[in-house]
Amino acid sequence: MSVHIPVLMNEVIESLDIQSNDIIIDGTINGGGHAQAIAERLGNDGMLIGIDQDRNGLTHSKERLRNVKPKIELVHGNTRNLDGMLDAIGIQTYDKLFLDLGWSSNQFEDPLRGFSFKHDGPLTMTLSDDPNQVPFTAYDVVNEWSEESLVDILIGYGEERFARRIARAIIDARTAGSITGTLKLAEIIQNAIPKRFQNGPIHPATQSFQAIRIAVNDEIGALKEILEKGWERLNPNGRMVIISFHSIEDRIVKHYFRTKKMAGEAEILTKKPITPTDEEMEHNRRSRSAKLRILQKL
Ligand SMILES: C[S@@+](CC[C@H](N)C(=O)[O-])C[C@H]1O[C@@H](n2cnc3c(N)ncnc32)[C@H](O)[C@@H]1O
Repeated sequence: MSVHIPVLMNEVIESLDIQSNDIIIDGTINGGGHAQAIAERLGNDGMLIGIDQDRNGLTHSKERLRNVKPKIELVHGNTRNLDGMLDAIGIQTYDKLFLDLGWSSNQFEDPLRGFSFKHDGPLTMTLSDDPNQVPFTAYDVVNEWSEESLVDILIGYGEERFARRIARAIIDARTAGSITGTLKLAEIIQNAIPKRFQNGPIHPATQSFQAIRIAVNDEIGALKEILEKGWERLNPNGRMVIISFHSIEDRIVKHYFRTKKMAGEAEILTKKPITPTDEEMEHNRRSRSAKLRILQKL
């Protein structure tokens, strides 16, 4: 399994403007790549709260953060429940919220998670390590949802230009029996799009897989809830530093930040999002679509 390379590392550290006694929430801690660098800049009087819905990531973080100075709280669950999580550990307000959205390379490459169209796996696509944590899985979307609903998510969450053709192909394939594996689904999608688009630089199933994953995990609903709840308890002068990986997420972050600025409650510190250097993109392909935005509460 490849090791997850944290994106925009220096930029994240700079953006967080870490003070030694800060209480910092990493709401998507996974294996703790960013979290370790954050924790190393906090003092004994600082605190790092790391949250992830994937226990595997948290286990790595625990190991990685063994010898750091600040107090560490690792919480398993969806960060959309931030208020309850903070209550449970007795924290009323905090200073910085960091989100590095989406999935880690470890999750993506684990065939059992069903994200990959390179290795066959079951159609789950849950970011949580427990598929029972979501009301439906990718299997249900692909085998049960109506053609119109499929079109809606392929356009809305995947910005897939061939949404109609792909949805039709999925419905047709279903008549021959359930679609159970990621490779089969990827093949159906690939064959549904015009030949000349089948061999582009990114796999033709990329956007459809993204759309299904976002739907399964209700990633858009979760992001909106995290922003709202995160804002409520953020201290004055506190910051939100958010990395998104596709335009749908980025639009939500941008819009939320703008609303706070318009209300005179915050300053946007990134007029344009911070993006990786050519060198980083070369070194870490996953970073290509990363956009980092910073909001500071007044
Ligand atoms: C890109 S990885 C984070 C990698 C981490 N920054 C690092 O450098 O090691 C994103 C992580 O966020 C988690 N995640 C995404 N949305 C979440 C949510 N709403 N609640 C909790 N965890 C979430 C995923 O399970 C995944 O482990």
